[in-house]
Amino acid sequence: MEIQEINGRKNAPFSHACLRSPDASFKVLGMQKHQAKTPAFEFFGTRKRRVRIIDQRYLPHRLVVQELKCFDDAVASIRDMQVRGAPLIGVTAAAGMYLASQEAPLKAAAFDAFMQKAARRLKAARPTAVNLAWAADLQLKTLGSAGQAAEKKARLLQAARLIAAEDEACCRQIGEHGLALIKKIARRKKNKPVQIMTHCNAGRLAAVAWGTATAPVYAAQAAGIPIHVWVSETRPRNQGASLTAWELGEAGVPYTLVVDNACGHILQEGLVDLVIVGCDRMARNGDAANKIGTYLKALAARAHRVPFYVALPSSTVDWTLPSGVGKIPIEDRGSREVVAMTGRCGKNKIQEIRLAPGKAAAKNPGFDVTPAALISGIITERGICRPSQIKKIFKDRL
Ligand code: MRU
Repeated sequence: MEIQEINGRKNAPFSHACLRSPDASFKVLGMQKHQAKTPAFEFFGTRKRRVRIIDQRYLPHRLVVQELKCFDDAVASIRDMQVRGAPLIGVTAAAGMYLASQEAPLKAAAFDAFMQKAARRLKAARPTAVNLAWAADLQLKTLGSAGQAAEKKARLLQAARLIAAEDEACCRQIGEHGLALIKKIARRKKNKPVQIMTHCNAGRLAAVAWGTATAPVYAAQAAGIPIHVWVSETRPRNQGASLTAWELGEAGVPYTLVVDNACGHILQEGLVDLVIVGCDRMARNGDAANKIGTYLKALAARAHRVPFYVALPSSTVDWTLPSGVGKIPIEDRGSREVVAMTGRCGKNKIQEIRLAPGKAAAKNPGFDVTPAALISGIITERGICRPSQIKKIFKDRL
């Protein structure tokens, strides 16, 4: 594994100090050891005003850390999927708004107009993950109407750091709640490994830390519960094969990679105790948009009576949408990811290869919507509930 830093310091020791919540539950779970890993996102520098990310396009072959130096860098990092995963997209958007403010004209009206435009550009970068619009709008609210430009910039920085810290705290709480679920299964299985299936990457790389679907896995690992994860490759972009496999391996969690088409068979064979996936946007009724292929897993899980859980922070709920099927905007990612595939060739070369005939027509919806009726429960920072109860546990957000 090669570690590179494109435009910052090489191999700098990363510090999470600015984001770490004072909450003691880290220690209870023993989850703190994951903090030593290269963060997917962090503020750094003496006054923690600079932002760096892992450029995930190079994983699992190279660990490339990149500084986002300007607003355009932030937009490109989301649009080009250097960062991806709903929570991380939101956190990066919040930081992007701060970077935009550094480039804004100082006169009040022009400053505000510039920031409105910046929010619009960010929101257009990727359509499905609602955390993006949530974070951009939150930053516009943070700006308020009064104050000098310097004061507004300071507020934006503080809010961006808070959004990142909250994301980390939410994922940790998702881990704690999900752990209860895994503990129950572990008791029933009398110390045989709990078999968890996941899809795409809803891991620490999709958030500031811990991840959403993986947070219960890391919590179980820290609690000494034997676990094994079935990772589906997640064509066309292979986030399972390239990202989830990489981060589980890095954390020492036993996993087995399978092609997407094997998942129905594995569920049918009784090899899975629990499916946990992430979410890019949930409607008020609990319908959940997630990476394409999630819906098929939910159908197969229902057919074989395997509990199917969706893990998400409340920032992924679109409170304006009563239901999700046919309503949540689904990103069309174009044909290239379908007709071609990228991987490592030889020792060092990352290369795209063509799979389909030159003129093959291809459709590439990036996400699908799993109806709430197929979801056994949702794991949030406030606990586990049925999809229909989300309005109840977050009634303060409506
Ligand atoms: O296209 P991506 O990689 O940004 O999509 C991410 C997902 O859909 C993940 O499956 C995840 O569950 C949602 S983010 C935790």
